[in-house]
Amino acid sequence: MNGVQNSSPYIRQALKEAPNKVEPPTVGVLRHRGLDTSKILSMGLNESCFPPSPKAIEAMRQNLSAVNYYPDAQCPRLSDIISERTGIDHDCIVWGNGSEELLKGAIDLSLSPGQGLVLPAPTFWGYKSMVAAFEADVSEVENLPDGHTNIDGILTNIHGSTKIVFLITPNNPTGRMVDQNGLEKLINGVPEDVLLCVDEAYFEFGIHAGGPNILNGLKTRKGPWITIFTFSKAYALAGMRIGYALCSDSELAQALQKTTCVFNVPILAQFAGEAALLDTDYLNFILAQTAAGRDQLYEGLRELGLEPYPSVTNFVSTPVAGNGRDVMVAMLDQGVQINAWADRGYENTIRITVGTEEANAACLAALRTVLA
Ligand SMILES: Cc1ncc(COP(=O)(O)O)c(C=O)c1O
Repeated sequence: MNGVQNSSPYIRQALKEAPNKVEPPTVGVLRHRGLDTSKILSMGLNESCFPPSPKAIEAMRQNLSAVNYYPDAQCPRLSDIISERTGIDHDCIVWGNGSEELLKGAIDLSLSPGQGLVLPAPTFWGYKSMVAAFEADVSEVENLPDGHTNIDGILTNIHGSTKIVFLITPNNPTGRMVDQNGLEKLINGVPEDVLLCVDEAYFEFGIHAGGPNILNGLKTRKGPWITIFTFSKAYALAGMRIGYALCSDSELAQALQKTTCVFNVPILAQFAGEAALLDTDYLNFILAQTAAGRDQLYEGLRELGLEPYPSVTNFVSTPVAGNGRDVMVAMLDQGVQINAWADRGYENTIRITVGTEEANAACLAALRTVLA
């Protein structure tokens, strides 16, 4: 083989240059590295520290023997519930293998190589590899110093070849959400021939914290929009890989559908999702517990002399003295897996997923030791 330049001509250049798929430190990965995961608190990936609804677990158990069949391709039973709750027609709802498949699909349906995409930064690290594979002309718009999304900056970065603009609210890793004014500004300011795509992975937490209803705002928009949700966070089903998109019109939904695989949502994920959606008591339990745990972490971090971002989600980020990755590694030695921001300029910032009351206390104690 010659040098990297000439090797593998059958692989698209953009994919060769894209960063390698990262291996998030899931419990499985830590175990594979030889760590005793029964002794490690998993507070690094914004998963739910609570198990899924007992009704979702029971629904999966009852349908285990159905996995020899393909799942429904369009998740009709789930669409019935979502359509009734949102007022969005069935033919404007698209289901995905986690929300990530749909975020990638939104880019895929709108962008040709070289065309423009506007993205706030820092945001969910998954966007980096999604975007790199599409040869997009990416305008990253830095968040405001307090962590809020820079709405004016997003609008001024839209240019002639821009096809898609992202809003992530509440945002990861800041934990901050857009307010009604900012939302309206964006909805009215993004041109009518540009797709506005909202990532609402933390939607339930945002609403619980008194945030604006993004969908109601989007319904007033003249141009196209997609808003994307997941069962990975407040529904505690990250391992089942299920999410959905609501689209402004059926043509857009059809295009998004074409970017996905035919049987993309596993049969057990569909049963679990349906039971979880219907178990609103359990959702409310998770939301209340998460809010309390978030306050506990926030106050504890402040007692350590830190200045965390005020979060509305199931995680809290804070700058620390020194390098965030070093703190993350030292925390793992203490038995707590947290995360560090990956973005340039924020190397001193860590992110902690809300845990149970005991886990939060243990995490804060470990952090006190590490920072000392
Ligand atoms: C903002 C945001 N969007 C999307 C995702 C992807 O979630 P999933 O693919 O599990 O639905 C995440 C995961 O952490 C996230 O933080």
